[in-house]
Amino acid sequence: LEAFFAPKWFSGHAVLVTAGPTYEPLDPVRVLTNLSSGKMGYALAQAFAQAGAAVTLVSGPVSLPTPLGVTRVDVTTAEQMRAAVLERVSGHRIFASVAAVADYRPARVSPQKIKKGAERLTLELVRNPDILAEVAALPEPPWCIGFAAESENLDEYAERKRREKGLQLVVGNLVQEAMGRDENTVVLYDENGRIPLPTADKAQVAWGIVRHVARRLGLIDT
Ligand code: CTP
Ligand code: CA
Repeated sequence: LEAFFAPKWFSGHAVLVTAGPTYEPLDPVRVLTNLSSGKMGYALAQAFAQAGAAVTLVSGPVSLPTPLGVTRVDVTTAEQMRAAVLERVSGHRIFASVAAVADYRPARVSPQKIKKGAERLTLELVRNPDILAEVAALPEPPWCIGFAAESENLDEYAERKRREKGLQLVVGNLVQEAMGRDENTVVLYDENGRIPLPTADKAQVAWGIVRHVARRLGLIDT
């Protein structure tokens, strides 16, 4: 019903969203990952679609249904997510990077299952590409939204990410208040400062973000 009455602020605009975790394989049965349900990214993809956008959702492994009207592309690793995003991003007005991308991946992937042996095992990890930073640095970048899930110093870290990656908007939250839950408490950081949104379910928070973006892009007056 909400979708039916939703104002179509974004009709004619394409929005690219990433969501969920990435899986970085160690061997055929083990991965390194971040805890992420994908709920916030899926809620945001759905809200943009309800607001009339053509939405492509590049998704890591999650167990969520594809939101109605959204084109979904499934990926597993950060490198696959990067390729899927860079292949498609041109022509998109907005890039919302909600995925919990693994910052590191195992330096070597064992083709066979690693057998247990020694009492200690050291893993060597290498840095993954920063997908959002790469997109924001494109010659003609889309309007970029980053997410910052922090366990402390939210204002400082979120604002720093916005400036350092050159983003139009950062949505910040404290992990203690969001992980695995249906509700979320977020603060929006943009060039004009910080705007806390009321605690609400992730669908309502997504609408708050979509409305803010529509205002910033001049698609609504109020
Ligand atoms: N991000 C990304 N690619 C990565 C890491 C992060 O696109 N390899 C994006 C996330 O989707 C998010 C934003 O960057 O929108 C911030 O992610 P976060 O993990 O909070 O910040 P990092 O820059 O990775 O810094 P750190 O983890 O050290 O806080
Ligand atoms: Ca990170």
